[in-house]
Amino acid sequence: MIASAPGKVIVFGEHSVVYGKHAVVSAIDLRCYVKAEKSGEVRITSSFGTTGYDFAGKHAYISHAIRRFSEVCEVGGVEVEVRSDIPPASGLGSSAAVTVATLGALNAEFNAGLGREEIFELARKVELDVQGIGSGTDPFVSTFGGSWVLPEKRRFHTDLEFEVIDSGETSVTAEMVRRVRELRDAYPDVILPVLDAMDAIAVRGAEALERNDIAEVSRLFRMNQSLLRAIGVSTPEIDRIVARVEEAGYSAKITGAGGGGCVLTTGMGEMRISLSAEGVRVEDFEDWGSADN
Ligand code: PMV
Repeated sequence: MIASAPGKVIVFGEHSVVYGKHAVVSAIDLRCYVKAEKSGEVRITSSFGTTGYDFAGKHAYISHAIRRFSEVCEVGGVEVEVRSDIPPASGLGSSAAVTVATLGALNAEFNAGLGREEIFELARKVELDVQGIGSGTDPFVSTFGGSWVLPEKRRFHTDLEFEVIDSGETSVTAEMVRRVRELRDAYPDVILPVLDAMDAIAVRGAEALERNDIAEVSRLFRMNQSLLRAIGVSTPEIDRIVARVEEAGYSAKITGAGGGGCVLTTGMGEMRISLSAEGVRVEDFEDWGSADN
């Protein structure tokens, strides 16, 4: 059986969400597809190659997903194959998507009857198994799909489309979060108001998205990016990308932890994405032949 799950973007509120402020996150129409087939052994195949259980290597999320699934449903062995539209390690939620799609495919192949809530709970455990920490946001969005205002988990819808530019630089989310915390501790009188301003942008941003008001979203992108720059998570390369996009009359901001990773833009991007994509689902094709990727 084949299942798929979406990647995600943080549209507003990265970093400030760590301090209890609002964030706006959305599932995107880039998906990860996983095929699971009962077998005598565990075999995992992706663009990284083929392995058995590989808990500490390239297939860590898939390996932990199989192990967590086998705690609720007997798995003798299984062949898992992955095809993903989501660029890895770029802040677009590829790890959560592969985890959730694996659980969805196992659920279908072994007729386990798990609902979305149970798939999310397992995916949340897998995130902690592999990363040690994690807010659970990525597995949540990938499982349920759609667009959400956090922390209250209010669902909303937007028809707006965006584009993504990968800066080509990599960063570690935990390290970026630590740097912001240090800055806040050293300059609370400066940084706390910045986090409050990000909060206000996220609240206005959700409303503007809901109204499909691209002009307002565009203004808020510019403000948010300036504030992200103020808390030290932009880079010279990201600043150059943002300047290029703005010169062409569009807006851009970091999406995710920054220090590299992806920039979300209202135009001029490399990859077009629409928001509010569907969460985990079983695909009705049984082999890759009819998949469009
Ligand atoms: O690395 P990403 O794209 O999942 O974004 C992390 C978002 C932060 O707000 C920086 C951290 C967090 O846990 O919310």
